[in-house]
Amino acid sequence: MPGPGNPATISWNPDLYQSRHSYVFQLGSGVVDLLDPKQGEKILDLGCGTGVLTAKIRESGADVTGMDPSERMISRAKKQYPMLDLVVGDALDLPYRDRFDAVFSNATLHWIQPLQRALDGIFKALVPGGRLVGEMGGKDNISRIMGAIREVLMAHGKAMKDPGEIWIFPSPAAFSGMLEQSGFRLNFLMYFDRDTRMEDPKNGIVDWLDMFGAYFFREIPLHEQLPLKLEIQERLRGSLLREGSWWIDYKRLRFVATKPKS
Ligand code: BEZ
Repeated sequence: MPGPGNPATISWNPDLYQSRHSYVFQLGSGVVDLLDPKQGEKILDLGCGTGVLTAKIRESGADVTGMDPSERMISRAKKQYPMLDLVVGDALDLPYRDRFDAVFSNATLHWIQPLQRALDGIFKALVPGGRLVGEMGGKDNISRIMGAIREVLMAHGKAMKDPGEIWIFPSPAAFSGMLEQSGFRLNFLMYFDRDTRMEDPKNGIVDWLDMFGAYFFREIPLHEQLPLKLEIQERLRGSLLREGSWWIDYKRLRFVATKPKS
């Protein structure tokens, strides 16, 4: 898969994901409600991770397939949910045509570059009248965290990598334009702040950086990384530490779009 930050080239750690970042799928259950899966519907869960939401979708009686680019995530998902249909696969190269009644995607599309190509593939994978239902990072997502990473790395003479190489956080207008360009009809789009509480009240930002920020520390010797991460966390104390917890400054796009019948 192209792109340095593509999920396939990131070393996803299923243990860390499940133990410290369970909010990803807990908060995603509202997106499953929006999907409103029905008995017998064919659904693709794109970026299924460890399969928690795939299993929730299956409870409705839908015929769901979970796909993720990370073999480690899929292997964990298979262990946890042996009854699920799970495949390792690339969102940029979906092999399906007119196959699914719905494509569901939680906290994944912002990792996919070029996003337009993924939306084209999703469109093709849907039956006419099928729907794309999902949530992803939107404009200004994690902007405080990114600002602190930049300030600290630059203060230490380290190069700051361009976050645009690994993530895309489109504005509502830009994202609706992309959906339309792929042929979708946009039915629902919400853009909202979703500050998210980290489980560790002491080192919540360091935890987040360990799980998701590896790209920015790639060329920094391992022994220098923790002190830098602690300094980044310290810099965020005034803005992201509230009521004794660390909060990640997520901004979300939540959406439903359909493939027109004709
Ligand atoms: C997000 O869910 O918005 C996100 C997660 C990890 C890195 C960047 C964004």
